[in-house]
Amino acid sequence: MKNSFFMSIEGPDGAGKTTLINLLLPHLEEKLGDDLVSTREPGGVRISEKIRDLVLGVEYPEMDGRTEALLFAAARSQHLVEVILPALKENKFVLSDRFVDSSIAYQGAGRELGVKEVADINKFATRNIEPDFTIYLDIPSEIGIQRIMANRTDEVNRLDKDALNFHIKVRSAYLKLAEDNPTRIFTLDATKTPEVLTQEALELINKQLEKGDYL
Ligand code: TYD
Repeated sequence: MKNSFFMSIEGPDGAGKTTLINLLLPHLEEKLGDDLVSTREPGGVRISEKIRDLVLGVEYPEMDGRTEALLFAAARSQHLVEVILPALKENKFVLSDRFVDSSIAYQGAGRELGVKEVADINKFATRNIEPDFTIYLDIPSEIGIQRIMANRTDEVNRLDKDALNFHIKVRSAYLKLAEDNPTRIFTLDATKTPEVLTQEALELINKQLEKGDYL
């Protein structure tokens, strides 16, 4: 009997999360076929997309930190209900690009709203659903910032503007989350090449799948 499997990939800006996911997907598709559901917040869900425009738009510099945290949590709730939960119910393998850890790191620590406070509103938003397994891509803040500046192709969003100091707080929170959740969060050194990271991530995923009776 196959169980559902829910994994997330996390990391500060510039860690190479998108690159890794793009390299991982063909391997996972080959292995899992139709059982793979790859999603990213806001997940193409109409309400969550609207919220994302609101929260990341440069046109709202007056946005209060708590408003921001609540909006991320609201977008997450809708994405969970429309995409993640139905897939888990069908025993799919769900890969989510970011989940609650992002809010804890960015809003809780980065915006200094409090890790516990942000975790609490997200418990409400997610009905206490947590990933079974999380890969955290760790990058020293100076390197993360350099990469963002060098690789910039997307639009600069409102949250990018705080740069190094913000990045350091976000990274520290991720490291603490990884330390506090050693059976869920596995840290990879994101200064390694994308190819090496892909292999390391695949090994971790395979181990989890064997352990969790997924296949
Ligand atoms: P994302 O779309 O994952 O962009 P990237 O792939 O470039 O990391 O996230 C966009 C920004 O939103 C990013 O700076 C992280 C931030 N973010 C939060 O601050 N809190 C959250 O809960 C989430 C999901 C993202």
